[in-house]
Amino acid sequence: MLLLHLEEVDEKAWVSRLSELLGDYEIVTRNDDFDPAHIHYIFVWKPRDNAFDGLENLKAILCLGAGVDALVDHPHLPDSVPIVRYVDDELTRCMSDYVIANVSMHHRGLSRFRNDQINRKWEQYYPPPSWDISVGIMGLGVLGSDAARQLKAIGYQVNGWSRSAKNIDGVRVFAGGEQLDDFLGQSDILVNLLPLTTQTRNILNYENFKKLRRGPLRGGPVVINAARGGHQNEEDLERALKDGTLGAASLDVFNVEPLPEDSRLWKLPNCLITPHIAAISSPTSGASYFSRVIINNENGLGLENLVDRKRGY
Ligand code: NAP
Ligand code: GLV
Repeated sequence: MLLLHLEEVDEKAWVSRLSELLGDYEIVTRNDDFDPAHIHYIFVWKPRDNAFDGLENLKAILCLGAGVDALVDHPHLPDSVPIVRYVDDELTRCMSDYVIANVSMHHRGLSRFRNDQINRKWEQYYPPPSWDISVGIMGLGVLGSDAARQLKAIGYQVNGWSRSAKNIDGVRVFAGGEQLDDFLGQSDILVNLLPLTTQTRNILNYENFKKLRRGPLRGGPVVINAARGGHQNEEDLERALKDGTLGAASLDVFNVEPLPEDSRLWKLPNCLITPHIAAISSPTSGASYFSRVIINNENGLGLENLVDRKRGY
């Protein structure tokens, strides 16, 4: 039996699509009457404290998102039950679309021209060609490596940084803490696609912003955070965006979501805010993925995209 425990998403749409694909396999939600001992899979997003109570026969925990930070920090996460995270072409494409749109917008100075328009100001500025701009991607996993390839294909110089070294055609790869400063020093636009772990929390901070390359972008380097709010120190961002250490930022994620009305980030003219929409798991393609995970596992084929709990992603 599959239990859905989804917060802040359209759970009914997931039930309906999963039912179509799983046929006779029984699906329940939290308000149904069921014996917790019969639950073999739980499909979760933002699980409450009691989410796993009584689930003694779990074969797997399925996470609606690609990021599992909130799940691995859950106070009552059952030990030793495998966790499957979301990996999907549509999610990857949407993230690369978000990254390309924001890199291109900052490179071409579009937010600056928009502000000039509001002030009826005619000031010509000719952005350099994309091949002069170096984009640094933090995190070269499923999402980061696709974004890197796509940016390379449209003409940018691309650098990437990950824990272990990678080989991506045309992309200069830096690995580990010892190469972080080199990587930052060669990035005009920094894109964060890291998982949130104890090692990566607050990595977007003032000290690191100062290390970014001050090169071809007239306003200064740019930060794009599409991973998690916990990666960014929001006071440092505000300071850097005001004093010119950063020329601009695009933020899709925040320490507190929804971003509180009194956050000073809302009012910064060089900070583009989106409400955690870069790439969201859709029931249409997501249900195909999760039903396949269950069917394959029931047929003895094992589980895919498992989270390494020790690494935290
Ligand atoms: P992934 O495949 O697990 O890739 C993570 C990458 O980060 C890997 O390359 C990994 O290095 C690297 N990394 C991890 N810890 C590191 C460290 N301490 N130092 C350097 N590199 C490190 O994850 P993904 O599927 O690409 O997703 C990335 C994140 O995007 C998710 O965790 C989630 O938070 C976020 N996300 C946001 C949205 C949104 O709508 N805003 C949507 C989906 C996902 P190795 O390759 O060496 O292991
Ligand atoms: C969304 O934020 C995800 O982690 O998939």
